[in-house]
Formats: sequence, structure tokens, C-alpha cells
Amino acid sequence: MSAATGAGLAGGPGAPADLPTGHAPALARNLDPLALRRVFGAFPTGVTALAALVDGEPVGMTASSFVPVSLDPPLVSVCAALTSTTWPRLRRAHRLGVSVLGGTQEGASRQLATRGAEPRFAGLEWHRTDEGAVLLGGAGAWFDCSVEQEIGAGDHRIVLLRVHVTGIDPHVPPLVFHAGRYRRLAG
Ligand SMILES: Cc1cc2nc3c(=O)[nH]c(=O)nc-3n(C[C@H](O)[C@H](O)[C@H](O)COP(=O)(O)O)c2cc1C
Repeated sequence: MSAATGAGLAGGPGAPADLPTGHAPALARNLDPLALRRVFGAFPTGVTALAALVDGEPVGMTASSFVPVSLDPPLVSVCAALTSTTWPRLRRAHRLGVSVLGGTQEGASRQLATRGAEPRFAGLEWHRTDEGAVLLGGAGAWFDCSVEQEIGAGDHRIVLLRVHVTGIDPHVPPLVFHAGRYRRLAG
């Protein structure tokens, strides 16, 4: 593993006076998946549940790759691993629910991420929309979407979702995923 100094970054010539000094980036060229997963995990995210009715049964998976994309037209995206066995089922659904999980929903996140935990929705409060999206009760926000486009991206697919209906409960604080751990916002 090689390291490089961050000369010219924080504290370098011309840097604004309020940047901290003495914290040159510790860089590494190690891009193997485990190392990369650790660095990607330094980016804190929310946690969502992707879910829909498929053949009359709720099908779902946890996804932290949710990103709002466009206001007009209304688009959001998620990334689905090529190894996911749930995504190929979900993508068949006419409508797909995205629930932004609340700070108390770590258990739901774990359950919906566990392969072999069947029935995956056991004990979870879920609701279906008329069009067949599945939304989790107790979440902080909801999107009722359809798949607009899928773009191959390495070992994942970037899935662009068109938003049709939304909901929000501003009193629900979000669940946060960071460095492989669930966290809640302080304050
Ligand atoms: C916090 C968290 C975030 C996740 N985010 C994603 C994601 O964005 N995309 C993805 O494909 N899988 C993600 N997963 C993995 C899936 O939720 C799930 O483990 C996997 O899809 C289950 O396997 P299956 O698809 O074969 O049922 C995440 C898991 C956890 C615990």
C-alpha cells in the first residue's frame, strides 16, 4: 500500500485561511473490493426500503444507494447489485415503493437485507398503493415510482426511477448508515 502526501491541498499556497492544516489526505492505491467498500462506506447515507407487490406478495430489499436526481421530470435513482436475487423480481413490478427509513427502523433494514429471511416482511407494517407499490409504515418519506431506465455500471445497475406520488412525515428522524454501522442523527 503506497501513500502520498496531499501537498497543495489543505493549507497549501493560496488555501483559504480557515482551512485546517496538518491533515494531508492519506491516500492508497488499493482498489480491491474490500478496501473500496470501506472507503465508500465513509460516505454517510440514508437507508431506504425498495418494495412492491409481485405475484400478490410483498417483495423488498434494503438500499442505501438512493439518490434524488431530477425535479423536472421527477426522478430518483438506486443502484442494484448484479448479485441481487430480489432486484430481478422487483423490476417486474408496475410500481415500486421507496420508503426512507426512520431512526427506529434498523430492524426493518436488517430484515429486508437478509437473504433467506422469509417471509421477508414478517412483523413489518407495510401498505400497498392501488398500483402495487409497497410502502413501510413509520418511514420518514415515501416515493411511489416506476422504472424509467436501467444503466449497466460495473457490478451494479443504476436504476432511474420516475416518481409518481410522494409522502413525507417530517417528524420522523432518519436512519443513517455510515462505516458499516447504523446511526441516528444527534439533535
Ligand atoms: C444498509 C444496507 C444498504 C444496502 N444497500 C444496497 C443497495 O443500495 N443496492 C443493493 O443492490 N443492495 C443493497 N444492500 C443489500 C440488499 O439489501 C440485500 O442484502 C440483498 O439484496 C439481499 O439479497 P437478495 O437481493 O438476493 O435478496 C444493502 C444492505 C444493507 C444492509
